[in-house]
Amino acid sequence: MHHFAYRNGRLHAEDVAIEEIAASVGTPFYCYASATLERHYRVFAEAFPRSRALIAYAVKANGNLAVLKTLADLGAGADVVSEGELRRALAVGIPGARIVFSGVGKTKPEMAAALAAGIHQFNVESAGELEALDAAAREMGVRAPIAFRVNPDVDAQTHAKISTGKAETKFGIAWTDAPALYERARALAGIEVVGVDVHIGSQITRLAPLREAFSKIVGLVKALRERGHAIARLDLGGGLGVPYMDGGEIPPLPSDYGAMVEEVTAGLGLELIFEPGRLIVGNAGILVAKVLYVKEATHPGARRFVVLDAGMNDLIRPALYDAFHALLPVREAPAGAPLAEADLVGPVCETGDRFAARRPLPPLAPGDLVAFLTAGAYGAAQASEYNTRPLVPEVLVKGARFALARARPTYDEILARDRLADWQ
Ligand code: LLP
Repeated sequence: MHHFAYRNGRLHAEDVAIEEIAASVGTPFYCYASATLERHYRVFAEAFPRSRALIAYAVKANGNLAVLKTLADLGAGADVVSEGELRRALAVGIPGARIVFSGVGKTKPEMAAALAAGIHQFNVESAGELEALDAAAREMGVRAPIAFRVNPDVDAQTHAKISTGKAETKFGIAWTDAPALYERARALAGIEVVGVDVHIGSQITRLAPLREAFSKIVGLVKALRERGHAIARLDLGGGLGVPYMDGGEIPPLPSDYGAMVEEVTAGLGLELIFEPGRLIVGNAGILVAKVLYVKEATHPGARRFVVLDAGMNDLIRPALYDAFHALLPVREAPAGAPLAEADLVGPVCETGDRFAARRPLPPLAPGDLVAFLTAGAYGAAQASEYNTRPLVPEVLVKGARFALARARPTYDEILARDRLADWQ
């Protein structure tokens, strides 16, 4: 469910014509619909009617301050993985008490910044990190509330590069080491053990692996409580997938996910924490690009290439994860228009700079605008200036209004970040 649709043959974001935004900010650009952000946050929050739940939006999916502010105003917390993300969350008024800090490589300065902000919880991923956090907290005269992220050795059945729950990945503490590490944590003056955390991957489209992982973790919670650990919270991570393709895999509804979670955790009196990213912002964003050229060689069987002004540096998901993003022309194709196969490519000097291969597409000509759907999560967030292509602007729509949520940098700004050495 999203708020990008045709009206009188023109693609709109809520009540704003995409062509109007393009005329104002130029292409390419990301465009986000507030209504979709709000709807997805509410649908997820309402999936847990019987539980105390903290919805800590995973900032990594899309950290734009205007997006974060939209979610903060609904009461969202934040899951951060760096001091930069922590600062983003605090900047829009998300209180420290609703922020959790994940990630395998937190530095001591990052720990200190999070302790100073009074964050809700650190999700600790190794024995070394535990000792470092204990030291950082003692130096500041405080105690760090922690959960260990436990690796349940469960296959999330998603793309290998975004699968985190198997023992061979770098994530979490080994399932078998958990009892000893909880004992160690209990002995540390700078540490307060509050919970258990698990996150097995992203774009998960089946409930079964999640249920398996959560059941294992609930078993661990019970065992830890029997040993006298005060486990009050369970952080179940993010990972619920979104539909990318008509006729493709349909991920579980948040309500079904919520019912499963409430069943698995029933009777334990746990505060639940969730870290959804993609589910909240994925369908709330599109990447709008312009067709530059359509090129085709003359030999029989030659491929047709539609060259766009957006490239892999703007949206890397197809190149990195073979991800599928549906494409809509901004001017609706006439009913019955013939589809012809083409490769959709960008201007970057790499063969991998390809959004789609042999995609059946309606007629497209230079100057036409197109929109990649479901680009709100891990789109702008993973963009780079490779080939010295400026980061593309981001636009937030609300009803009939739109605002620039991040401006395109000028070439002068980009070049000014570099310095010549003093001997040059
Ligand atoms: N919590 C933790 C600890 C995570 O590592 C992640 C995502 C999330 C929550 C949010 O997961 P989500 O609800 O968005 O699935 N760039 C990849 C996805 C990377 C996911 C990284 N971790 C992509 O574009 O598919």
